[in-house]
Amino acid sequence: MNLSPQNILIIGAGHGLGLALALECQRRYPQASIHTTYRRAEKASNLLNSGLVSTKLDPLNETEVESYCEDLPQLDLVINCVGMLSTENFGPEKSLRDINIEQLTEVFQVNTFVTPLWAKHLKRKFSKDTTSVFATLSAMVGSIGENEIGGWYGYRASKTALNMFLKTMAIEFERSRLKTSVVAIHPGTTKTELSENFLKGIQHKVWEPAGAAENILNILEKCPGEGTGLFKNWDGRTIGW
Ligand SMILES: NC(=O)c1ccc[n+]([C@@H]2O[C@H](COP(=O)([O-])OP(=O)(O)OC[C@H]3O[C@@H](n4cnc5c(N)ncnc54)[C@H](OP(=O)(O)O)[C@@H]3O)[C@@H](O)[C@H]2O)c1
Repeated sequence: MNLSPQNILIIGAGHGLGLALALECQRRYPQASIHTTYRRAEKASNLLNSGLVSTKLDPLNETEVESYCEDLPQLDLVINCVGMLSTENFGPEKSLRDINIEQLTEVFQVNTFVTPLWAKHLKRKFSKDTTSVFATLSAMVGSIGENEIGGWYGYRASKTALNMFLKTMAIEFERSRLKTSVVAIHPGTTKTELSENFLKGIQHKVWEPAGAAENILNILEKCPGEGTGLFKNWDGRTIGW
């Protein structure tokens, strides 16, 4: 049972993977109605020139999120691409010595809290009759079972907590009889603003955003056939929580 979406929402599509996913949806589903959001206009010129419907909003502002969601049609594919690893003043923690409450709070807000906030206001946009997918870009480093090298406390833990939100949402959606496959997906290491300072010395493949977006959609299209509450790698492998 493959998804063939008609109404799509990409949250955080101003650049990076979100933009690449929006453009790949535009290429792959030419009949679909594609809604996108972005926050910083100065980073979103490619999105704004793409012809896609795009709305500027702060994905953590509940008033803005609620009023935006009210006007959306029924959806069959939602992908949340909002996330952060570091700021100008703070890199991911190498050791406990780098723990900083202000930074941890910001990382958790952006990586963890955006998904349940949007799910609260989008739940009624999913159908009990037709299949749909609600996905968030998570990260392999959020897997507790696969953590063998440590470091990056805030990023890792915020993605682990995100995964728990998604798994719990999957149970609630299923109990509400929604035919929505709720998915955490690792996009693979991809050259974007988030990763650009951390790519030196990486031994495995680093994707361009367009290639990563193709991989992600190939997997998400198949997710309705696999159930819900999934943690998937970009190549289709199921990642252990
Ligand atoms: N790139 C990789 O190698 C990689 C690997 C694993 C997982 N991921 C995940 O993939 C997702 C997309 O990342 P990306 O690589 O495409 O990075 P990116 O190009 O830096 O995009 C990050 C997105 O998050 C938004 N964002 C960042 N900080 C925000 C804040 N404080 N408030 C609101 N929105 C904020 C950005 O919007 P603005 O620019 O408007 O702030 C942008 O839409 C993230 O969740 C990331 O953890 C990426």
